This record gives sequence, structure tokens and C-alpha cells, in this order.
Amino acid sequence: MKNIEKLFTKKNSSMITILKKMDQANDFSLPRGIILVVDKDNKLLGTITDGDIRRAFKNKNKVLSAQDIMNNNPLTFPHDVKHKDIIDELPKKLKTRKNSSRKFLSNLILVKNNIPQRIINYYELYQNLEINDKAVTVVGLGYVGITLSLALADVGLKVFGYDNNKRKINRLREGDIDIHEIGLDRLLKEHINKSFIPANTLKDTADIFIICVSTPIEEDSNKNFSTNLVFIKDAVTNISKKMSKGSLIILRSTVPIGLTRTEIIPLIEKVSSLKCGIDFSVSFAPERTIEGMAMKELRDLPQIIGGYDQESFEKTSRIFSKLASTIIKVESIEAAEMIKLMNNSFRDYVFAFANNLSLIAYDHNIDINQAIKSANKGYPRNPIPYPSPGVGGACLTKDPYIFSSILKSSRNDVFRLSRSINISMHKHVVESILDQIKKRNIKFKDFKLLICGLAFKGDPETGDLRNSSSVEIYKMLIEKNIKAFGYDHIVKKREIENENINYYDIKKGMKRFDAILFLNNHIKNLRLDIQKLIRQMNDFPVFYDGWSQFSKDEILQIKKCTYMSLSSVKNSLDS
Ligand SMILES: NC(=O)c1ccc[n+]([C@@H]2O[C@H](COP(=O)([O-])OP(=O)(O)OC[C@H]3O[C@@H](n4cnc5c(N)ncnc54)[C@H](O)[C@@H]3O)[C@@H](O)[C@H]2O)c1
Repeated sequence: MKNIEKLFTKKNSSMITILKKMDQANDFSLPRGIILVVDKDNKLLGTITDGDIRRAFKNKNKVLSAQDIMNNNPLTFPHDVKHKDIIDELPKKLKTRKNSSRKFLSNLILVKNNIPQRIINYYELYQNLEINDKAVTVVGLGYVGITLSLALADVGLKVFGYDNNKRKINRLREGDIDIHEIGLDRLLKEHINKSFIPANTLKDTADIFIICVSTPIEEDSNKNFSTNLVFIKDAVTNISKKMSKGSLIILRSTVPIGLTRTEIIPLIEKVSSLKCGIDFSVSFAPERTIEGMAMKELRDLPQIIGGYDQESFEKTSRIFSKLASTIIKVESIEAAEMIKLMNNSFRDYVFAFANNLSLIAYDHNIDINQAIKSANKGYPRNPIPYPSPGVGGACLTKDPYIFSSILKSSRNDVFRLSRSINISMHKHVVESILDQIKKRNIKFKDFKLLICGLAFKGDPETGDLRNSSSVEIYKMLIEKNIKAFGYDHIVKKREIENENINYYDIKKGMKRFDAILFLNNHIKNLRLDIQKLIRQMNDFPVFYDGWSQFSKDEILQIKKCTYMSLSSVKNSLDS
């Protein structure tokens, strides 16, 4: 629970301190009416509720400090306890309290090493009981659907997964998954066919459906973009045939603003003959986790929810509050749809700014990372991000196009501009490599290089090759007949070869190579013996440091070596 320490007080705190903290709880989205008394290590000593304060006033207690009025035997549970276990254990715990105790035990404190982490009350427990009885069906078991399904299964829900890809379902049933996410494998093995049941048909009855199917973006011959809605409409049609009165449908797939209200709800109503807001509920709750840390962020990130009505919001909130401690209610479904697009498009936009700077710096042979570092140092406003060989991933690169596709034609299209700057980085990398080859008087077909880091990013690490800048750059180099090879610390040889990339294992050394390009920022790049690898290479080796991870000066100590970053090219003094 974020800011929970704002409720901490010491046992000698005065009444005015306690009352002030209670009063300010709302400002930090914390429960009102409870203060946690802790020792110097923040370990829980007791609780003070508004009831304790009333009783103190009633008894005209003059010695009004925390230790005089606190309940020093509060109800605590381990922070990672399942709510069902709390409910099973609660009667026992309550019995141990003396019946005569007048301390109000309506708040349960979840602790880690006896340090409070979260406060829950009986209402939350009751809501969870209700939710635990419901059948949740996650529709679409790709990256978003599978991570969410297993996170929900892990907090005690029974989750049915539905995907129309039979192969995927068969693999999942065997506990096999090709998504690289910390903790995902373990959760799949733990919950598969128990609390997580994947199938390639929709269950006949379900109360809650969460839609996580693909919504790819497409470009037509006039270079206009639109979102392909075939998958989401197919999923919605199927759900509408199975749902019943009281169902809740949550959209988690990314969609253009307005789609849920103008197309999805009417489609559900038409197929099901039920009425939204009367017979069923709808909400939009976007997925915002970062690949590589999804399981952590599903618990840590605030969950944005836009409901069709208050009931839709509340029902959705009950599900997501099982995962996340902060739920953000937004004014409408449309606001939630927009927020998803905003977060990703903003990142693409600021990265485009940094990338554009690197292009300008290249013209002047300025080390842009050093320049940005200096610009940001001690400057307290909007730090400039660092540039990269391109912005990748399935989601980040798509959302600006969705914005662009719904933008009125009279408006400036900053989204598309950002995209085109970020894409232009691929050409920039390729052209600067070609320049080096030309300078060496080597034919393109005789120039052998290795790209290290094919996944679309290295930190947090992922094995996802979708919209990877490295893969794009590889293809452009191959088109120029360059002898290009690829290696990745995470992506397996089989998957690399499936992408039609010539695999080469960097562990075999770099003999007979002319260049090595580091195009993602994986931490393991830094564990390689770079000096040794470069020394094994042909004369006049090219070292391309796409993320400025390495020490330029160290590389340049190697004879006849060229160090390249996005913005600068430097040769060893003895080149
Ligand atoms: N990957 C991300 O990081 C990310 C992050 C946030 C949001 N999103 C959004 O979430 C949605 C899903 O993304 P993803 O990366 O998981 O996509 P994905 O392509 O990995 O997975 C989609 C899954 O849906 C299944 N599917 C397609 N149509 C179906 C149907 N009619 N019925 C049942 N299953 C169907 C596919 O077989 C596939 O397994 C997209 O809208 C995407 O933009 C993705």
C-alpha cells in the first residue's frame, strides 16, 4: 500500500499528532480512521482507531498519548496471505481476543517482518469472497492475457482462459510457454489445470470476461492507419452468446477512443439481447505493464478503470483490487481508453526528441549521451531521455498510430512525426555502418558483422522480437548483402532462426568478424570480455555501442579500432 508510512506514529505521539494523521489519510488515498503505532524500526506495536479516540475522550482521559489508547493486540496477517486463508483463520484469531475487549478489530493489518504493508477491512474481505465465487474468463492468452490470468489465479481466483489458437492451448496445458517474464513459468506450473484452466472453447457459463485479444494496427496503400477490429469483434460476439444477466465484460485490449461505447456495447446488446447498465456491466481497464516486469507491475501499478456506470466500475475494481493496491477511477470509459494511448505515445514522443538530438549530434560528432547527462545534471525540470537505435515492442510502437488514426486531419500529427523519427534511427544506424565499410574499401558482401541483442529491449530483459529495431536493422543490412549474424542473451537459437536471422553464438568468439553492434541494452553485454572479443576481430574492427553502455576510452585503447555510438565516431589514435 503506497504511503502507508503516513499512518505510522510513535507510542509517545500526542493526541493532536494522531488526529492530524487521521485527518490527512484521505489526501494519500489511505483508509481513514486508523493509525498504526510503530517502534523505531517501523515494527507494529498497536493500532489506534477513531473508536479508541472516542473512548479516550469519553473517559475524560487526560494522558492522551498513543500508548495509552492503542490496541496493542491488533489483527495481523502475513502480507502475502490469500484472502481466503484470512477468512478461514479469522474466527480462531477473534476467539483469542477477550470477549470483554472493547477494541474495535475491523481493520486487519498485513505485515512483512511485522512492518505494516497494507490495511484491509471486512468490506474488502467480503467483496473478495464474492469475487472468489465468480468464474473469470480471460479471452485471448497472448502476452497480456496469460500474465493477467496467472496473476489472478495466484491471488485465489478461478480463471478460465480462452484462446482460439489450439496449439497455444495445448502447449499451455502442458505447462509450456514461450513468453519470457520473471516468475511466469513458476506460476504456470503451479496453477495450470487447477486455478488456471485454458481451453479453446468458451465455457458455457461465466460471470466475468476480460478481453485481451490482439488489436493490430494496419496501414493502407494511402499510408493511412486503422485498427484491425476483427479479433476483438469476434471475441465480443462469442462472449455475447455465452454471457447472462449480471455478467461483467472488461476490455483490456488497446482500442481507439470511443470504440467500447460506439461499437462494442451495441454489438454485445445486439447478440445477447441484453441491455448494458441494466442486464450487464462494461468497463475499460487498460494494460500498462512493462514487458519483462509484468508480474511485478500487475501488483504494483495503479489500475485505471473507466466504467459504463458506477456498478461497472465497482465490480471491476473488486477484481483488480485483488492485484493492485491502487485503483484509479476515471470519469468515463473513453478517458480510460485514452489514458492507455497517452502513456505509450508520450514515451514514444520523448524518445523521438532524444533520437532527433542524436541525429543532430552525429552531424557535429558530439557524444549525445554525455551532452544529455550534462544537460540533466542538477537541472530539476523534465529530464531528457537518452537516445536509442529505435523504439520497439508490440505496444509502444502501435499506440501513437492509433492516436494518429483518430486525429482530425486539420490537427498537427505529432504522433506520426515521433514514429517516423524513431523509425529513421534504423536507417541512421545502417548508413553509418555502410560509411565505415566504404572507408575500409571492403565490399559489402565481404563485411561480416554480428548484432548482439535482438529482442526489442534489454532492460527489463525480454525475449520479445516483435517490432524490434535490431531485427529491422538486421534485415536492412542483409538487403545490402552484408554478411550479418544475430545473437541474443535471452532469445533462443530456434526463435532467432524462425525470424530468418543467421544465428551466431557470441561465446564462440569473434574471429573473422569485422564489426560487432550492440543494439539493445541488456545488462549481460557488460559481462562480456569486450576487449578480448574485439582483439579477435579482423583489422580495423568496428564497435557499435547503440546504447552507450561501454567505456569509449577503453575500447579506443585497442589498436586500429573504430568506436561508434548513435551520435559519434572515434578511431583509436593508432588507427
Ligand atoms: N504486449 C504488450 O506489452 C501490451 C501491453 C498493453 C496492451 N496491449 C494490448 O493488449 C492486447 C493484446 O496484446 P498481446 O500483446 O497480448 O497480443 P498477442 O497477439 O500476444 O495475443 C493475443 C491473443 O489473442 C488470441 N486471439 C485473437 N483473436 C481471438 C479471439 N477472437 N478469441 C480468442 N482469442 C483470440 C490470439 O490467438 C493471441 O493468443 C492488444 O490490444 C495490445 O495492444 C499489449
